Amino acid sequence: MERIFTSDTPQKIGKEVNLYGWIRSIRNMGQIIFIDLRDGFGLVQVVFDDKNKFRQMAEDAKPESVVYVKGKVVKRNSKNVNDKIPTGTIEIRASEFKILNESQTPPFEIDREKATDEELRLKYRYLDLRHERIHRNLLMRHKVINFLRNWLDNRKFVEIETPIITSATPEGARDYVIPSRKYPGSFYALPQSPQQYKQLLMVAGFERYYQIARCMRDEDSRGDRQPEFTQLDLEMSFVDEDDILKLTEEMFTELVKTLYPDKKITTEPWPRITYKEAIKKYKTDKPDLRRNKKDNNELAFAFITDFPLFAKENGKLASEHHPFTAPKTDQIKLLDKDPGKIVSTSYDLVLNGYEVGSGSLRIHDAKIQQKIFNILGIDEKTIEAKFGHMLDAFKYGAPPHGGIAPGIDRLVMILQNEPNIREVIAFPKTDKARDPMMNSPKPLDDTALKELGLIIKNKKK
Ligand code: AMO
Repeated sequence: MERIFTSDTPQKIGKEVNLYGWIRSIRNMGQIIFIDLRDGFGLVQVVFDDKNKFRQMAEDAKPESVVYVKGKVVKRNSKNVNDKIPTGTIEIRASEFKILNESQTPPFEIDREKATDEELRLKYRYLDLRHERIHRNLLMRHKVINFLRNWLDNRKFVEIETPIITSATPEGARDYVIPSRKYPGSFYALPQSPQQYKQLLMVAGFERYYQIARCMRDEDSRGDRQPEFTQLDLEMSFVDEDDILKLTEEMFTELVKTLYPDKKITTEPWPRITYKEAIKKYKTDKPDLRRNKKDNNELAFAFITDFPLFAKENGKLASEHHPFTAPKTDQIKLLDKDPGKIVSTSYDLVLNGYEVGSGSLRIHDAKIQQKIFNILGIDEKTIEAKFGHMLDAFKYGAPPHGGIAPGIDRLVMILQNEPNIREVIAFPKTDKARDPMMNSPKPLDDTALKELGLIIKNKKK
């Protein structure tokens, strides 16, 4: 007989169904035993009355064991209806019950409300992921990504994968690196973003690119930061700033209306505030513009525009965003005179006090790009070694282009009312950048070190 998901049981009243799943809880009401059965799509109540030959087995079963239940779907009488769960109008009268794989007592209660030790949760993440709230977060994350893919697909965007084993691309953090066995002493870097590749795809003539892109950055963790995260990375040719901002606004407005109909957007169209105004008025470049900051259903999107091109770091100029950001056209003349004053074409997308995305129009002229590298104090040899390919590419018909990269994790964290992005990532790292389940990072054995030509000087015990 065909298997039925718990979520489909309310459509099967009066029928016998085959259910598989995990025991979420067992309640002993004296004569009757109730088991809440959980599968990948929900929960349903299974009843064993005192005449049921499986009653004792149900009473003795261990929570989290994997079980098979055959039973009839019956309507609950009105005083027993549970409107907190979608299957709360029915229950299953068990006629067969098998324990397929008994579970040990889990190291923490799965459907707890209280906070549990983070290390322990991540060590047993496969159990932590059984928690209804986290399970739902990941289902919604999937829906968000799926929505974005379809939305962009309908507008001629092409998803293109770019390399993970690559060279450094500067986004303001340190790189994670991979030692090369074939070239001892040389290292690949994991991408901090697909920034250079997406620009090269514009030179290649794709015009509208996107990618659900994994990015890796070695930086200190915060509640809204992970060493590994996902961006909706996109880039377009022959567009101006307004085209990119409009597209972003339309896409996320539709996403909210489709997937989160209970949420309301504070101001439409979204405010566009220059960096200067934001600092003056709110003392921050990511203001929380909600009318009621306690309302979880309020979404205050805004664009912060006109960031300075450079920031001062230790007396030197550094890129405020990344070195591929274009100055505003009327500012190019300042490149030689007063670069510190230049206003750029870059913008951030902010939501409820978080920066959820960032982008800009890019430089597509080799001479201007070269000048920016010079202003940043990068010597000619390094420019050639690190960015020669970009300068070359700009000499072969590079179109004007620009884009944006909203962070999927941060966005879903806010949409799901979570305080930390770990809650919307299947297998995140701790705030010390460790994975207690896989026990990473861990030392390499001597054979591997030798093959890679590596000697570790300061071994930490
Ligand atoms: P940026 O570095 O501002 O821009 O990143 C864009 C967005 O990515 C998310 N993000 C992160 N999310 C979780 N953990 C992190 N450590 C982390 N770092 C960044 C944020 C952020 O707004 N290439 C440019 C984009 C462009 O110019 O098109 C870039 O990566 O939501």
